[in-house]
Amino acid sequence: MKLVIAGKGGSGKTSISGTMCRHLARHGHTVLAIDGDSNPNLALTLGIPAEQMGSLPTLTRDLLDRTAGEDRLKKTLDEICATHSATGPDGVTLLVMAHPQHAGTG
Ligand SMILES: Nc1ncnc2c1ncn2[C@@H]1O[C@H](COP(=O)(O)OP(=O)(O)OP(=O)(O)O)[C@@H](O)[C@H]1O
Ligand SMILES: [Mg+2]
Repeated sequence: MKLVIAGKGGSGKTSISGTMCRHLARHGHTVLAIDGDSNPNLALTLGIPAEQMGSLPTLTRDLLDRTAGEDRLKKTLDEICATHSATGPDGVTLLVMAHPQHAGTG
């Protein structure tokens, strides 16, 4: 089953996504969550510390092979998860599309 959550800003997308992921994982399902938000914060909802996410490598464009007229991954999903994912306390595996560096205050 693949679920995509999209919608209006601030409408609860991240909260409901994280809750569903944790619920399904607690009931024995294998759950891979992919945070495609340009300002990702699904990790927080899944219970994964920000410091752990910050130490993961970014998913770079060179993971994609675009030579055949369509996008194909150069590695298997398992290989990518082994190096680029984090796992939450309920067993949800999280992949984050981008880790933008934010400016500090003042
Ligand atoms: N069912 C709910 N009842 C009350 N507050 C909620 C509920 N779901 C989410 N919220 C709160 O609403 C705010 C926005 O939720 P959330 O971050 O999940 O939305 P979002 O759609 O992912 O936002 P964004 O578009 O900024 O990514 C948060 O402060 C969250 O705690
Ligand atoms: Mg959100």
